[in-house]
Amino acid sequence: MPLDIVVGTQWGDEGKGRITDLLASEVDIVARFSGGDNAGHTVTIGDEIFKLHLIPSGIVHSRPECLIGNGAVVNPQILWAEIENLQERGVEAGPQRLKLSRHAHLITPAHVALDIAREENRGGEAIGTTLRGIGPAYTDKTSREGLRATLLDQPEELAEAVKDHVRQKNEVLRALYGQEGLDPEAVAEGYVNYARRLGRYLVESSIYLHTALQKNRRILAEGAQGTLLDLDHGTYPFVTSSYPTAGGALVGLGVGPGVVRHVIGVAKAFTTRVGSGPFPTELHDEQAGRLRGTGDNPWDEYGTTTGRARRVGWLDAVILRHAVRVNGLTELALTKLDVLSGWDEIDVCVAYELDGERIDFFPSDQQMLERVRPVYRRLPGWIQDITGARRLADLPLQARHYIDFVAEASGTPVTIVSVGPAREQVIWDR
Ligand code: IMP
Repeated sequence: MPLDIVVGTQWGDEGKGRITDLLASEVDIVARFSGGDNAGHTVTIGDEIFKLHLIPSGIVHSRPECLIGNGAVVNPQILWAEIENLQERGVEAGPQRLKLSRHAHLITPAHVALDIAREENRGGEAIGTTLRGIGPAYTDKTSREGLRATLLDQPEELAEAVKDHVRQKNEVLRALYGQEGLDPEAVAEGYVNYARRLGRYLVESSIYLHTALQKNRRILAEGAQGTLLDLDHGTYPFVTSSYPTAGGALVGLGVGPGVVRHVIGVAKAFTTRVGSGPFPTELHDEQAGRLRGTGDNPWDEYGTTTGRARRVGWLDAVILRHAVRVNGLTELALTKLDVLSGWDEIDVCVAYELDGERIDFFPSDQQMLERVRPVYRRLPGWIQDITGARRLADLPLQARHYIDFVAEASGTPVTIVSVGPAREQVIWDR
């Protein structure tokens, strides 16, 4: 009864969509288990680029069914737009293939308005959220005031629930943020319209997955965001409001640990982050510009969801070891190795220095984390273009050495290496 989990090891944007796409040809179901349209997963097939926010990346394959699990938060407007866009491009995304958990929570325009208002109010202390209403929707879930997707096939109840919800949020928007608030009737009407279209997609997701596992169907749990954005294991408070780690996959899908086979951690060959918060190996100036790219290519380091320039830095093996531990990673997929071509030397952070002492773990205390200094190991770079490599033996010695070093420093085998954005630009060593 195999279930494999793909998670991000860093601050998101590691290329999970890409790796999911790669593995999707071998599975029957691809399931998202956390987050919402704050995620941006890019899959490149030939000349076509698919940017997905909510629907699992497996949808662009003809084979697997796709599930948005109970741990996700769903903005119906975004979901419907994504479904329509896929269908227009000839990708089957009807209820036969795509399923939405009845237990997933709905994001409303009031959540989005609150997210924006809170961020504005934080001023210089802003988290740098994606402004998609993610935090407020999960806050309502945990305070037991949320709207579950199951309401999508009960339009009358949904309309009343949405109106109540908007009225309550309006009180907050007015009292705390001096805003006018939203029109409850108009928001409810919009949601009833989405319900007519999306009600057909609802499933009892835990039962759906359990039945599939009993029939020996293979499932891939597709993570969003990354380990360091996890509410508990990330750089709190500069995190998202869900659990993008492997434990979150179990809760977010309603399956037990016994079914898990592989936990694949996706790591970019360097590190990136969007939004605020500590980043020990962050680079600036010319070096940063080189890693980030100009933005002319869709795979340069600019946010898929927000378009923001990502912060960039060297690979941090302390972070990778943290990710290996909290996720129980069985292997690593190293992405974007080609971006490191052309550097004379490449640094990898192997430990931190904290107040004059060397530490080899990722501190959870934010103030400690602000004070750490990276301890680097300098490795020889390579000048060759590696985008045509399809086997490890095709790579220059220095690039192979880099991969071996990542495996050794993280204590985890590297089984997949991507050397370009296209589907076939990959080296498998599984
Ligand atoms: P939120 O998830 O919109 O609340 O944003 C919280 C933090 O997580 C911010 O720093 C965002 O930039 C970051 N974040 C959320 N989703 C992603 C993602 O898919 N990739 C990278 N960063 C993300």
